Amino acid sequence: MVKLTGLKKVKTAVFISGTGSNLENLIKFSKIKNSPITIDLIFSNTTKAKGLKFSHQLNIKKYISSFNNYKITEAKILNLLKKENIKFICLAGFMKILSKNFIKKFNGKIVNIHPSLLPKYKGLNTHFKAIQNKDRIAGCTVHFVTAKLDSGKIILQKEVKISKKDTPISLAKKVLRQEHKLYPAAIKKIFN
Ligand code: GRF
Repeated sequence: MVKLTGLKKVKTAVFISGTGSNLENLIKFSKIKNSPITIDLIFSNTTKAKGLKFSHQLNIKKYISSFNNYKITEAKILNLLKKENIKFICLAGFMKILSKNFIKKFNGKIVNIHPSLLPKYKGLNTHFKAIQNKDRIAGCTVHFVTAKLDSGKIILQKEVKISKKDTPISLAKKVLRQEHKLYPAAIKKIFN
């Protein structure tokens, strides 16, 4: 892992595609005194991402670009990250898979939150799979991003009990509440 600690807070970009509750939560976290990061850029691959509203509300720069052309989009993002002096990236509900080349350029400085206890249930529909398999425990994971999907080194995990009454929707809500605790804790762990 690349050491990122220092006296100054680390300029961070959050990549989203949807609601952005983790983004909102990370922004709140970034504003507390001993947070190691500031959120300086929000990137979305779609104009439809509801989380983009936090850019206006909280005066954070945003950049939107579809991934129709990966090479061009990633090159533009990398330029912008350089220009804004961004040193750390948090993926939060980001639905695109970054290329090997992009990840190499930010090696050890991209993290993701995934709604399962990895290595179980990589990819999509994690809550549905957990319930279908009659699991008793679900959870969430914050991990470093590598070229292999949902497979980088695990930073922190949190378990969530599945009750008999749970549906994929109710379980997703329960897990999301824990995600909001886990992501800041994982970031503190990385930088402290
Ligand atoms: C979260 O459950 C996250 O783990 C998954 O997508 C969801 C995003 O939620 N990758 P939000 O956009 O942060 O509200």
